Amino acid sequence: MKLTKVREGKTDLTVPDPASYTFQGRYEPTRAPVFYNPKMEFSRDIAVLVLNALSKTRRRAIDVCDPLAGLGARGIRFAKEVSGLNKSVIGDLNDAAIPLIRENARINRVGGLVEIEHKDANLLLAEHSEPGKRFDYIDIDPFGTPAPFLDSAIRALKNGGLLAITATDTAPLCGIYSKACLRKYGAVPLRSEFCHEVGLRIMIGAAVREALKYDFGLEVLLSYSVDHYLRAYLRGSLGATKADSSASDMGYIFYCPSCGWRSAVELGGEWLCGCGMCGKPLKRAGPLWCGKLADRAFTECLVEQDRSGLNTKKRVEKLLRLLIMECEKPPTFYVIDRISSKLKRGVPPVAKVLERLIDMGYESSLTHFHPKAVKTAAPLDALMEIVDEL
Ligand SMILES: C[S@@+](CC[C@H](N)C(=O)[O-])C[C@H]1O[C@@H](n2cnc3c(N)ncnc32)[C@H](O)[C@@H]1O
Ligand SMILES: [Zn+2]
Repeated sequence: MKLTKVREGKTDLTVPDPASYTFQGRYEPTRAPVFYNPKMEFSRDIAVLVLNALSKTRRRAIDVCDPLAGLGARGIRFAKEVSGLNKSVIGDLNDAAIPLIRENARINRVGGLVEIEHKDANLLLAEHSEPGKRFDYIDIDPFGTPAPFLDSAIRALKNGGLLAITATDTAPLCGIYSKACLRKYGAVPLRSEFCHEVGLRIMIGAAVREALKYDFGLEVLLSYSVDHYLRAYLRGSLGATKADSSASDMGYIFYCPSCGWRSAVELGGEWLCGCGMCGKPLKRAGPLWCGKLADRAFTECLVEQDRSGLNTKKRVEKLLRLLIMECEKPPTFYVIDRISSKLKRGVPPVAKVLERLIDMGYESSLTHFHPKAVKTAAPLDALMEIVDEL
């Protein structure tokens, strides 16, 4: 394998040489014998911040697991860049990955903190499912869907631990391949302007449903949709009351493809049959997570973390600040261009629409999901009137 060196945060990584594994002139990570995607540095940077924040809340050193590690970019970075770490268990099924993980542990001098496992992720997690062996943090970062690993990850998570999940199968989650979404996540997706938010909520909802059967509640500390993937950090708490509280945040989103009206309904709630604005038939997405997509206090704490060594620090700060603004707003968002085009009007600046909504007393914000959209508690007809006036 042709190798080269890169530096992410404070960690040096030996990685496949991008120049040797290209398709149509561009680096194609899946062509390399061991997977490494430089575009995911942003995701890894945020994971390092999250783990440092988690570690500060613990009186003891934490145990973390990166069971789908590739060359160990995450697990090695955790060992090198997270203070208060007891051990980082790093696994991958690919034979070629193991010597690279070992090499990366060596060059970063973190061999004493790292345990390397050449085995299936579900087997590795199952071996850590008994009390005393569980992890404070598990990072499920697979090819495509995290669904096959959710059950074993939840069983290997300590009470109060954090489960991080990535999904790169945005086509099923966003409704392009709805049968695949039903198969992988047991949920119906929705083609709409807010399909990435629905996808994120379906992914979180699938994890919550896996946890409920163990009387384990999950709450969302941070989640987002960027580039080609969806990502969530979920805190697990044991107990029927905690699980009931998570279940109460599950539900469906009903949407009118004709006028854009939408409404969230809780899991046991009565289904809506006609649009609340035009009366036409509705589409239904879910079951999915209808609760908050980030915890304000936790996200504010991430903004306070030292980001000076991170190559993506500016982008991280921008995203976190947006997530803080939107975290307590209702599900879904409205793309202003779409409303303007329905009204056959020019497009007003999003900032002006937002200002007017807030002046009128509606809880509203921008959203990281779309640069020209607002999240708002205002009903659609009120928003349409504002766009019409502006
Ligand atoms: C998307 S890559 C991981 C990237 C890595 N987390 C990072 O941040 O660089 C997915 C990895 O999972 C490994 N893998 C796939 N199925 C597996 C399984 N059932 N058990 C363990 N590893 C698996 C692949 O070999 C690949 O290295
Ligand atoms: Zn309608």
